[in-house]
Amino acid sequence: QKKLTIAIDGYSSCGKSTIAKAIAKKLGYVYVDSGAMYRAVTLYLMNQGILKDKNFLMKQVLAALPNIQIDFVFDPQKEVAETMLNGQNVETEIRSLAVSQRVSQISTIKEVREKLVELQQQLGEAGGVVMDGRDIGTVVFPNADLKLFITAEVDIRTERRLLEMKQKNSAINFEDVKQNLVERDRVDMSRAISPLIQAKDAVVIDNSNLSETAQFELVLGLIKEKE
Ligand code: C5P
Repeated sequence: QKKLTIAIDGYSSCGKSTIAKAIAKKLGYVYVDSGAMYRAVTLYLMNQGILKDKNFLMKQVLAALPNIQIDFVFDPQKEVAETMLNGQNVETEIRSLAVSQRVSQISTIKEVREKLVELQQQLGEAGGVVMDGRDIGTVVFPNADLKLFITAEVDIRTERRLLEMKQKNSAINFEDVKQNLVERDRVDMSRAISPLIQAKDAVVIDNSNLSETAQFELVLGLIKEKE
């Protein structure tokens, strides 16, 4: 059986990683969360005090980039890959609202994207990979075997994200989370380099009213056609 490259793009908090992880597990593929990379870079810059002001110094960002090493370490107990920043597990920290509020701004920077796209392409080189993000089907793997573009109504996305954050004991409210999703989508769609757009050959899935199982079966069917 052919080892496919599967690209999953779409808006913030559409459940891209949920479906990507389920598919990777089922097929024995590698799952790569490209958003985690942008989040890890953002966290590093925040920790260095480089993003204290809204208007950061580009010079400082560019100087910091070579010092950022991102890896993924598979945790066999949790059955997930965890994000490592310079050897430290940052899986929880990168999901904070503080990081979510700065990440889209950092993702507009050309040099940041170049560094991370290179890493993404390396991780997917051998095939048998499911990668999710915003530009996977358009820029990272334009020749992917299967491209999905996931969407859902914004209030449904907000509820899902809120639930996820509350499970981690964050004191957080609906409006803050919704505003962050809307704002990130706006910045991600309007940036000059690799904006969030649907690849022409992507299959669009609106999962607003789709259960995880129904979506999983739908995607497995699409994969079968490609194998
Ligand atoms: O997927 P996630 O929501 O964790 O991504 C966080 C942010 O990282 C996005 O809002 C976007 O700004 C950026 N990103 C990107 N390109 C990708 C993946 C994520 O610009 N391929």
